[in-house]
Amino acid sequence: MWRRPAWQVLRQFVRHDSDTVTSLALERSMNRVQLLGRVGQDPIMRQVEGKNPVTIFSLATNEMWRTGDSEVGQGGAIRPTTKNPTGVSPRAEISERKSGTPDCGDIPSLSNFSPKDQNTMATVKDKLISPIAEAPKLPNNKITVVGVGQVGMASAISILGRGLCDELALVDVMEDKLKGEMMDLQHGSVFLHTHKIVADKDYSVTANSKIVVVTAGVRQQEGESRLNLVQRNVNVFKFIIPQIVKYSPNCIILVVSNPVDILTYVTWKLSGLPKNRVIGSGCNLDTARFRYLMSERLGIHPSSCHGWILGEHGDSSVAVWSGINVAGVCLQELNPAMGTDKDPENWKEIHKQVVASAYEVIKLKGYTNWAIGLSVADLCETMLKNLFRVHSVATLVKGMYGIQNDVFLSLPSVLSASGLTSVINQKLKDDEVTQLRKSAETLWNVQKDIQDL
Ligand SMILES: NC(=O)c1ccc[n+]([C@@H]2O[C@H](COP(=O)([O-])OP(=O)(O)OC[C@H]3O[C@@H](n4cnc5c(N)ncnc54)[C@H](O)[C@@H]3O)[C@@H](O)[C@H]2O)c1
Repeated sequence: MWRRPAWQVLRQFVRHDSDTVTSLALERSMNRVQLLGRVGQDPIMRQVEGKNPVTIFSLATNEMWRTGDSEVGQGGAIRPTTKNPTGVSPRAEISERKSGTPDCGDIPSLSNFSPKDQNTMATVKDKLISPIAEAPKLPNNKITVVGVGQVGMASAISILGRGLCDELALVDVMEDKLKGEMMDLQHGSVFLHTHKIVADKDYSVTANSKIVVVTAGVRQQEGESRLNLVQRNVNVFKFIIPQIVKYSPNCIILVVSNPVDILTYVTWKLSGLPKNRVIGSGCNLDTARFRYLMSERLGIHPSSCHGWILGEHGDSSVAVWSGINVAGVCLQELNPAMGTDKDPENWKEIHKQVVASAYEVIKLKGYTNWAIGLSVADLCETMLKNLFRVHSVATLVKGMYGIQNDVFLSLPSVLSASGLTSVINQKLKDDEVTQLRKSAETLWNVQKDIQDL
């Protein structure tokens, strides 16, 4: 029987003797041949290879496999030979050697093997790639999206389109849909700048995320108010949030599911995270809708039309008429009746349209997704790139504008890599403050009845 060099035997051993090995890479680093692999969920097995005997050491369990001078039999199964110092099979030896440092013989370079050997055994990948140093083990900018429904996937594609993350993880309870969405995105990888797209219903796939976007839950039915969704989605969150925190304790959670302000409060309670790291997408979308409608009236791009929608993402949101401007020109100074019922131009109508627009789009197509997806990506970009931009997002407003309860409402907030780090003190008019307090009361009246937080 043909005797293969030790490094090849090592590879065969892992491939054939351990059926739980799920990934494997043979790496030549400096003058060593190093074997990296994964046994089930355990992190990495590694080398040691040299002259016989060959020893493999599991970092996860501290176990050692010592193969002795081995031969590769038919079908690649490994058999210890008479030269095996212990005389027992590699498997049997696992239980006998629980600790200690693996034996290292002289470690030869791959170039010591004859071209014939290399041609016979080396894969294309082995031949193509000469590793220089170990690649990073952790992602740099990982984003997770929980819930791969309409909103989750619109958020995912917007995040990918902007090239924001090096790893995107998706989670859902519907496994087929989840896998299908993952594969579909992966197939577009050549057009993207995200190294890894992964998905699983197990939250371990989300580990080390910088931002976790939560879009899971039940969506609004036609004509259903966002507040009606509360208890159904609270129950979903009781499962999701602890899992997120378990695997990414340092993450920022961006809540999108509705009713978003209340579910942001629920997330803050369930997660135990500081308030700067629990943010609701809140009125970021409402503000974008408002600026779009403003731009339609003025014939100016929305990015140059400035206006803010604050308070509840929903029926009681507040349009800050006193702050609406283009290039610093306050529109209310040009039309003092702006935002009132006496306004001949009826600017108030565009705020009404903002409030009604979700209902209208849902009536027309069954759900809303593109605008919210784009706005989620915008928020992620500000945080991942530490941009300190100001967005109308939901934060804990207790103590502000005379609000006494633990409610989350949207205020113009500065976002950075630490999450929501400050709030801009807008000079609101009395009636605007009154409306904001009314929003807070509306939310608190629902929140106070939520059980088991
Ligand atoms: N904040 C906003 O501006 C805004 C805008 C639009 C929609 N939304 C909200 O976003 C949410 C999602 O809307 P959608 O249209 O994507 O709904 P959808 O029904 O298409 O998707 C919801 C997804 O959540 C998943 N899910 C349910 N329970 C889960 C769990 N326990 N763990 C993981 N995944 C779970 C479902 O399987 C489904 O894939 C809704 O609450 C909706 O009201 C918010």
